Amino acid sequence: MIKAVRGTRDLLPPDTALWNFVERKVREVFARYNYQEIRTPVFESTELFSRGVGEETDIVSKEMFTWEDKARAASEKTQSLTLRPENTAGVVRAYIEHELGRSGLLQKLYYIGPQFRRERPQKGRYRQFFQIGAEVIGPQTAGSELPMRDAEALDMLTSLMDAVGLKGWTLYLNSVGCQECRPRYNQALREALAGVKDKLCSDCQRRAETNPLRVLDCKVPEDQDIINALPKIAEYLDEGCRTHFAEVCAILDTLGVPYQVNPRMVRGLDYYTRTTFEFTHGELGAQSAMLGGGRYDGLSEQIGGPKAPGIGFAIGEDRLVLALQAQQTEAAEPLPAFVMPLGKGTNRHAMKLARELRSAGIAVDVSDESFRLKKSFETAEKLGAKYAVIVGENEVAADAFNVKDLKSGEQKTIARAELAAFLAG
Ligand code: HAM
Repeated sequence: MIKAVRGTRDLLPPDTALWNFVERKVREVFARYNYQEIRTPVFESTELFSRGVGEETDIVSKEMFTWEDKARAASEKTQSLTLRPENTAGVVRAYIEHELGRSGLLQKLYYIGPQFRRERPQKGRYRQFFQIGAEVIGPQTAGSELPMRDAEALDMLTSLMDAVGLKGWTLYLNSVGCQECRPRYNQALREALAGVKDKLCSDCQRRAETNPLRVLDCKVPEDQDIINALPKIAEYLDEGCRTHFAEVCAILDTLGVPYQVNPRMVRGLDYYTRTTFEFTHGELGAQSAMLGGGRYDGLSEQIGGPKAPGIGFAIGEDRLVLALQAQQTEAAEPLPAFVMPLGKGTNRHAMKLARELRSAGIAVDVSDESFRLKKSFETAEKLGAKYAVIVGENEVAADAFNVKDLKSGEQKTIARAELAAFLAG
């Protein structure tokens, strides 16, 4: 048997109803904040990610699906391509390529789509997973650097959580500084680690040399006391970064958005500057990060574009759906009606009635005249239909149909002209 590849999965009904529900709410809520959809390709030049996300990150150094795409014509070059592991770099590439900054307006863009990372699969962690992301990017003159943009993105996320009815999330917030102040913090961390790193786990000993910030991400219980005593980034932020972060917090306080400052939260992508954040959810176990994001004021320049500060986030849709399932959110709608032709030659009358009902906006499915009534009723029950509508010769002649409420068993005869309104009500 040929099976789905390890780390990928099929999303099947009825679960897909919950995915559709989430995506519907995303489109509704994001539209209220004036975001518009962008769709970028699922593969890009490898260079986009190595320059944008960062050569040293886990994502680029070991998790990308990359291949050499051979030239097929003299006009083509062999090039290295990669299935997108994330979509911020792609959106910023599109912003630069299409000169979206020329309008002078902020670009408020969102996307829903698959991403690919070669991670070790487990619950909540897949090699093909879905992200719902948003990016706000634009020239500085459009206010793209302002703390209110960070707060607005977080405000929108909490509105989305309310709209889908998810409870029990926590928003962790931090500032990772900028190109000016972060090197000073890195240096302080390196120095502090030099004295204690022999007592830390082997991963941390390596990170202390290569990328000291990642030590803060360590989950090994024995290491925690030592890590908690290391210097905090907040003490090293320069004046600009400190006031920016204070303003983000002040706006969130005014809006009543609850958050916790977590000085140890460092994100796994190199483009972040200033504000970073994650929402976690208790039901997700080891993969507790339901979404993550932050500011990337230098990313556009890093990949060859103009100065274009930005802020954004990506929700792990697989994880959001898992959290909703854990609290038993149901999204599957019952089928309003099952139309049952009864007797030879009635299929086409049933099809005609089904077509009328569907045009009136009612979802219906149709049985077959060869089914006995008993089999049609059993099918209606399996489909979870609310009503059975019987289309026999007598009904066709009278232009009125026998309608049975499958829960109460109550039956009524309803004229064709009134049927759609009855089923809708
Ligand atoms: P990220 O933290 O790498 O950020 O991913 C965002 C979210 O995607 C995670 O919090 C998680 O829920 C989900 N996710 C990541 N990897 C997997 C996986 N293997 N399986 C299932 N879910 C996963 C980014 O990707 C940034 N582009 C976010 C961003 C947008 N920052 C600014 N703008």
